[in-house]
This record gives sequence, C-alpha cells and structure tokens, in this order.
Amino acid sequence: MKDDAFTRGTAPQGIVDSACLLDDSDPDIQSLRPEKLDDYVGQGDVVNTLKIAIEAALFRNEPLEHVLFHGPPGLGKTTLAHIIAREMNGRLTVTSGPALEKGGDLIGILTHLEEGDILFVDEIHRLPKTVEEFLYPAMEDFAVDFVFDKGIHARSHRYRLNRFTLVGATTRVGLLSAPLRDRFGLFRSLDFYNIEDLMHIIRRSAAILNVSIDEGGARNLALRSRGTPRIVNRLLKRVRDYAQVRGDGRISIDIVESALNLEGVDGKGLTHLDRRYLKTIIDYYHGGPVGIEAIAATLQEEADTLVDVIEPFLLKIGMVVRTSSGRKASESAFRHLGYAVQEKLF
Ligand SMILES: Nc1ncnc2c1ncn2[C@@H]1O[C@H](COP(=O)(O)OP(=O)(O)OP(=O)(O)O)[C@@H](O)[C@H]1O
Ligand SMILES: [Mg+2]
Repeated sequence: MKDDAFTRGTAPQGIVDSACLLDDSDPDIQSLRPEKLDDYVGQGDVVNTLKIAIEAALFRNEPLEHVLFHGPPGLGKTTLAHIIAREMNGRLTVTSGPALEKGGDLIGILTHLEEGDILFVDEIHRLPKTVEEFLYPAMEDFAVDFVFDKGIHARSHRYRLNRFTLVGATTRVGLLSAPLRDRFGLFRSLDFYNIEDLMHIIRRSAAILNVSIDEGGARNLALRSRGTPRIVNRLLKRVRDYAQVRGDGRISIDIVESALNLEGVDGKGLTHLDRRYLKTIIDYYHGGPVGIEAIAATLQEEADTLVDVIEPFLLKIGMVVRTSSGRKASESAFRHLGYAVQEKLF
C-alpha cells in the first residue's frame, strides 16, 4: 500500500471517517476483517471473479475495472473494497452516497485521486442525481467537465483525472439508474453465507479474539447469525462475555444458547424486530398481504429499514413472501411464532 488506507486528515469534504461506521469501528471488530482475498471466506464465485480481474489488471499494469457490489448489510461489501485496494496496491478513499451532497464534494475527491487509487462509494443508490452526473465522464473517460458561466456565455472545461477504480456498494440495486449501473465493468451480488462458511468465519474470529469455541457452539452460533458475517462477529463477542462471566471462558452449545436467549435472538436467528415485523403482519393484517408502508407505520419504523435490513433474510428463509398485493407471512412464520395454522390461509 502506498500510504495509509484512508486519506484521513487532508480528506476533502464528503469522505466518511471510519469512526462513523458504528459497529465496524470497534477495534476488536476491525481486527476481524480479512485483509486478503485468500482470507475471505465464502462467496466463491465473487472471489474467483475478482482474483482473475485483479491478476489481469496487474499483468496489464492497468487499474481494475469499476466494480459494483450488491447485497444486504453486513455481508462483506466494504471488506471487499478494502481487499481490492490492498491487492491492487492502491490507496483507498471511502465515501458514501448521502455524504456527497453537491457536485463539488465529488470533484474534490476525484481530483485528489492518484493513478490506481480506489474510490469506495457506499450506499451508491443514495447519490443525488446532480452528483451522479459528474460520475459518468469520470468513470468512462477519467475526466470531469466544469461549466463556467450560464446561458450563451457558458463554456465547459474538461479536467483530466488519474485513472482510478470506483467500487460501489448498494443494498438496493433496483434504485440505481441504468446509466450508472451500466458503467461498472464488474457487477456481483453477495448472498447470505451458508452454515459451513459461517462456522469457518466463527473459528477464524474466535482464534483472533483468543477464545475457545467447540464444534457444537460454532454450529449453534452460525445457525443464529442470519447468514451474516457482521452478526456472527457481534454475537461472538456477546457470547464470549457470557462465557467469561457465567462459564469457564470456553464457548459451548449451552453457553451460546443461554447467551443468545438473553440477547433475544431465537433458534432461527430472528431478533425482536424480526418477530415484531412478522407478528404485525399476522396480528394486524391477518397474515397479509399487506403493503410495506402499512407495516412500517404500525411498527413505527422506516420502511427502508424494513426493506434493507429485516426483509432480505426473512424472504431468504421463506418466513415472508412478497406478492403483487404486498407481504404475506408464510406458514412457517405462523409455526415458528407458535400460532395455530389456519389451513384456509395457505
Ligand atoms: N467473507 C468474510 N470472511 C470473514 N469475515 C467477513 C467476511 N465478510 C465480512 N466479514 C466481516 O463482517 C463484517 C461486516 O462486513 P462489511 O462491513 O464488509 O459488510 P458490508 O456488506 O459492507 O455491510 P453494509 O452494507 O452494512 O455496509 C466485517 O467487519 C468483517 O469482519
Ligand atoms: Mg459497508
């Protein structure tokens, strides 16, 4: 790496300080982040695509093509951006869609990029339209167009940028405009991790945190982590505390069971909010179908939070289904929450 991973201190406006990223800024959690593609567990297809693209770009001595990652929160999009920067020997600059309010914010960042740098734009679907338009020539021709004056006196000046790689991350690829989406050379979706991969991550994280966990404990924790590495790491820390205070420090299946029950995480990994969401559909709307706005209003939560954070996993495990007329709780949701199953509903 040429320099520090972030352009901290001299950062132009709009760059997200890593300290804003709550959970992820915890030093313990930071140390759990894999730094090389070889340490990255799971998502085999994504890793292979990246390996080939990175090797080819290094061979040709060119920057990597622009990459777009899509997937629910906590699956490793930011981690991959860090890894790409490291593997490409480029500096990483981190920003996010909502942090870039004006075209000038983006131009400030773009003009500071050096040859081969990586610009990571998180939540890229939340980039304002006016800012997005500056990104098109930057991505395609490595240039920004300034316009001076207005009306008939308008003149434009093209400013050349160093060749960089844009890495975009989004939880909602559907909200991305087609022109922006089409300018990415590589586009990969991250999916929830399977139990084996989650257990692998648990064992790796436990080794880094210097805590012992047995096979049963790791499996139980994996089953309750919603297929998500970020949740794995967070729950592992809760379970470690519990093991040290109520047990002998070692993590077994019983310790995981008791610690996570205390956290309100059930056998399928559902949290209080997941259960409230499902109960709302069942209790207030007779199992659905019901629109997301109505559920959000009843729960007093943002509809976006429900769509981005709560629903992807519930859809994945089939607790809820999306129909053209709204969300429906599935038979397994009724059973899981201990409701009698009314045959006529299904
Ligand atoms: N494949 C992996 N192997 C091991 N740990 C991982 C992996 N992917 C992610 N993690 C861990 O999970 C945490 C969350 O990952 P990351 O911050 O990259 O998620 P994200 O997709 O960017 O989420 P968000 O959409 O919320 O920004 C990281 O701190 C990292 O330690
Ligand atoms: Mg992220």
